Amino acid sequence: MTAKQRRRFAVILAAGDGKRMKSQRPKVLCEVLCKPMICWVEDACHSAKVDEIYLVTGEKEDEIKKAVSSGCHFFRQNERRGTGHAVMMAEDALNGGGDVLVLYGDAPLMDAETINASYQQHIAQKNAVTLVTAQLSVPFGYGRILRNESGDVAGIVEEKDATMQQKAITEINAGTYWFNAEFLADALGKITDDNVQNEYYLTDTIQVAVSEGKRVGGFPVSDSNVILGANDRRGLKTLNEVARNREIDRHLDYGVDIPCDDGVIIGMDVEIGQDTLILPGTILLGKTKIGSNCVIGPNSYLVDSAVGDGTHVNASYMTKSSVGQNSTIGPFAQMRPNTVLGNHVKIGDFVEVKNSTIGDRTSIAHLTYIGDSDVGSQCNFGCGVVTANYDGCRKYRTVIGDRAFIGCNTNLIPPVRLGEGAYTAAGTTVDADVPPGALAIGRVRQQVKDAWASQNINFKGGKPKKK
Ligand code: UD1
Ligand code: CA
Repeated sequence: MTAKQRRRFAVILAAGDGKRMKSQRPKVLCEVLCKPMICWVEDACHSAKVDEIYLVTGEKEDEIKKAVSSGCHFFRQNERRGTGHAVMMAEDALNGGGDVLVLYGDAPLMDAETINASYQQHIAQKNAVTLVTAQLSVPFGYGRILRNESGDVAGIVEEKDATMQQKAITEINAGTYWFNAEFLADALGKITDDNVQNEYYLTDTIQVAVSEGKRVGGFPVSDSNVILGANDRRGLKTLNEVARNREIDRHLDYGVDIPCDDGVIIGMDVEIGQDTLILPGTILLGKTKIGSNCVIGPNSYLVDSAVGDGTHVNASYMTKSSVGQNSTIGPFAQMRPNTVLGNHVKIGDFVEVKNSTIGDRTSIAHLTYIGDSDVGSQCNFGCGVVTANYDGCRKYRTVIGDRAFIGCNTNLIPPVRLGEGAYTAAGTTVDADVPPGALAIGRVRQQVKDAWASQNINFKGGKPKKK
């Protein structure tokens, strides 16, 4: 079988609890750049194009199942008895043969490049196992790589089992390995839990290979950041810092302007066009896509949203929404899911839009709520317009034609349609359709009562009092 035809599959260990994290969630659901660590590892496996992905989970596996994609397969480890024991749970997958990539779900920065380069070495050297290693100036907590006089990998010793001399070793085990599946299935039967933690260490399979004269390869990474793992909250913070800086650097190198990155968080899957300015306090997450020449921030929060070229989003929230080109949003506006704004749209302060489409050049400048509506182009909304889209049981849609003019403090009670160029007078409650070009006016006619104050109010000591 050539390297290309061999079955390549991944086993991700994710049965650890959140004890050292002091979390109620499984450890691998702790987040880096607002994305669970397990999802980073899963994504790396997809990018590396492995054929199948298996996860070994423990308690609360349902929470992990919800976080990862539906194509993953699961094995259950009921008792947490070490990384070797966890891989034993995946025996059925190993029995299918090929090459298995074992990864730990608490090391999210491992990338497809390292996975595939170590695989090439694994195949070229015909190794029983190839393990990724790194040099760390502070190797505390990691397994140390033991090498013989010829420099070949001879084994791994865990921090807790290491002698003072071994603790001084700075080459560490990343926790990413390519195994020949047949070898691994056999070697797992030969390891014991005879160590300080009384656990079955996956790392002991390296010694099995060495003692049986099988080839073991080390794959040293050049950027030691990719192997970082998190066992506690401090480790998680370090991972967040590394990932945050890496993503910001990626965008700077591409031509995005981030003059001050205070409070700026940009997720892994975010795209930003050149000459866009990202201002402090801006958080961009999920599959957010920002065009060129935009200004985002300060203090804006966008998740799974799209922003067209030349648009400004100032101190505002957008979730699962999109805005076209040369529009402005904010300050202090919120675009809730399924909002689609056109080009040259103006959304001003204290405006909330939800599940609505807003046409080109429409202006909604102040203190307005638009929910479940289809609004045409070149419309103008006065201050304080509200769609009363919910009657306590069901939601209804408001439809507004192009060039409509909605007066201040208009209440729109759907289902209702306003035709092209329709007007509503300030303070009107619209509960019936308005034909194109018509004016709807629905308010109590003003009365003026002459001399009312002098007849009804006593002014004593400068303070008005009812007579
Ligand atoms: C492990 C390695 C260490 C390596 C480090 C890299 C072993 C024995 N040690 O140490 O050499 O330098 O990772 O980060 O492998 N897990 C299970 N079931 C278990 C135990 C663990 O699924 O019974 C999972 C955990 O969820 C975690 C991963 O395996 O994702 C690693 O376990 P952890 O206890 O964090 O190992 P480390 O002490 O970090
Ligand atoms: Ca760990």
